[in-house]
Amino acid sequence: MIKTLVHAFYERVRIDPMLGPIFNREIRDWDEHLDKLCAFWSSVTLMTGRFKGTPMRVHIGLAEITPAHFARWLALFQATALKVCPAEAAQVFVDRAHRIGESLQLGIALHRGGGIPPLKQAPAGREV
Ligand code: HEM
Repeated sequence: MIKTLVHAFYERVRIDPMLGPIFNREIRDWDEHLDKLCAFWSSVTLMTGRFKGTPMRVHIGLAEITPAHFARWLALFQATALKVCPAEAAQVFVDRAHRIGESLQLGIALHRGGGIPPLKQAPAGREV
């Protein structure tokens, strides 16, 4: 299922007007990238420990990446997951992708000097 999802997703990414140019410029060996991303999702969803990579460093290194790119990535990923996976499994992939996307975006913002976003105010009168 992971292989089907990863391959179907990047087929769409490669021809996407917003994401395609970045991926096609950065990735020289698509077979290697697809194997790496299968290992990534295997580690994330099945705890296999197969993925050995540094996603934060990779995404911080992409200077033009914006929240709009993440939104597009996640929309395509969700549409693909719902198409190729049973609903319950699709939900697991999509939830994880959102959480990882948030942490990557936070890392990028910190790296670019955005500071740490303010925490929500704690309700008054509560002891800490
Ligand atoms: C939740 C969102 C995302 C997830 C889970 C994700 C996941 C990953 C992972 C695991 C890798 C391999 C990292 C490594 O080699 O250590 C990777 C590579 C890459 N990602 Fe993402 N990514 C996300 C969003 C994006 C977005 C929005 C873009 C660009 C618009 C992007 C562009 C790339 C590129 C170009 C590479 C390959 C870099 C290289 O091999 O030189 N990613 N991504």
